[in-house]
Amino acid sequence: MKYRTLKDFKFSNKEVLVRVDFNVPLDEKGRITDDKRIRAALPTIKYLIKQNAMVILMSHLGRPKGEIVESLRMDAVAERLSKLLGKEVVKMDECIGSDVEDYVDEMVPGEVILLENLRFYPEEKDNNAEFAQELAELAQFYVNDAFGTCHRADASVEAVTRYLPGCAGFLVEKEIKVMGKALEKPKKPFIAVMGGVKVSDKIEVINNLLKKVDKLLIGGAMMFTFLKAKGHDVGKSIVEDDKIALAKKLLKNRKIVLPVDCVAGDKFEKNAKPKIVGVDKIKGMGLDIGPKTIKMYSDLIKKSKTVIWNGPMGKFEWKKFSKGTDGVAKAMAKSKAVTIVGGGDSAAAVEQLKLEGKMTHVSTGGGASLDFFAGKKLPGLVALEKNYRQFKK
Ligand code: 3PG
Repeated sequence: MKYRTLKDFKFSNKEVLVRVDFNVPLDEKGRITDDKRIRAALPTIKYLIKQNAMVILMSHLGRPKGEIVESLRMDAVAERLSKLLGKEVVKMDECIGSDVEDYVDEMVPGEVILLENLRFYPEEKDNNAEFAQELAELAQFYVNDAFGTCHRADASVEAVTRYLPGCAGFLVEKEIKVMGKALEKPKKPFIAVMGGVKVSDKIEVINNLLKKVDKLLIGGAMMFTFLKAKGHDVGKSIVEDDKIALAKKLLKNRKIVLPVDCVAGDKFEKNAKPKIVGVDKIKGMGLDIGPKTIKMYSDLIKKSKTVIWNGPMGKFEWKKFSKGTDGVAKAMAKSKAVTIVGGGDSAAAVEQLKLEGKMTHVSTGGGASLDFFAGKKLPGLVALEKNYRQFKK
């Protein structure tokens, strides 16, 4: 894979358009509840400031579907970024047009601005060439530091790269390097821990990982589809009945390891009464892996040299059913292996436990890291490769 990185350009006195993924969770009052993604882009932003660039940041926030949604404006993000940088970040009310152009013309080296939510424009999701060109005309260089959005062929990720020389930011570079190495040249034994609700959501990842790992440990609600496929009585647990045949086929692969016990609730509620049961006769609804499974999975993690984890082991948002997810996170944190946590829920769980610093890498990408684990080519990265060839001197 050939693409440029930040060190390949001289940014002094140049306008640089930087795609970041500031799609952060907000509470009902519009306050940011987790700024991990903003913090993850700081090394690139700080580097560009130090290089005396004029930094034009752009991101989406939520899914406003091409319309202005007041609660999804970027103001709170700009404010948080200003705090983190210790420097004012002016927020624009638009992404393109004369007001933005006039402001950019007056920017001074080291200044940082943030454009409005890209998805207020339908052209963004349509990968519209004219919109992308208007964005590109604001700057001399383009940087993609939005790993979490690299699986989207959106205008600010894909089409924009046709119009100006670009490179990967430090975050994108790190995500691809660490995760790529784990997949291509893993230290063995290599295991993957997969959780989440649906087999159908993870099937491409499971298929790709089965080619590479020594063992694939299953948890989360999708375990019940596998257990039912084995002929077990899974009680009221969530099952994808139309995926039983697929699960049966997958189970022919001896690398797949299933739980031996689980924690079942008498109802699907936070205050459900938890009961530890064997997986062959589940009474109630299975909501987590059980203690024997936690021990078994922790031992396997301990013996491994590379561990990839994606998806919680149970309904971890409910304390009574969070021990499985906590157990996997703790075992990974303790291990000396290369430990990689895919974004989304498993990353949130690791953060809740404050174990982020104990992992080799916690991805900022949810869907993007899943696609990466599935071996798919991410449009944002393909675009950077094409850009490298197009603007090669
Ligand atoms: C994410 O949160 O995974 C990224 O920001 C992409 O968002 P999207 O799924 O709305 O495209």
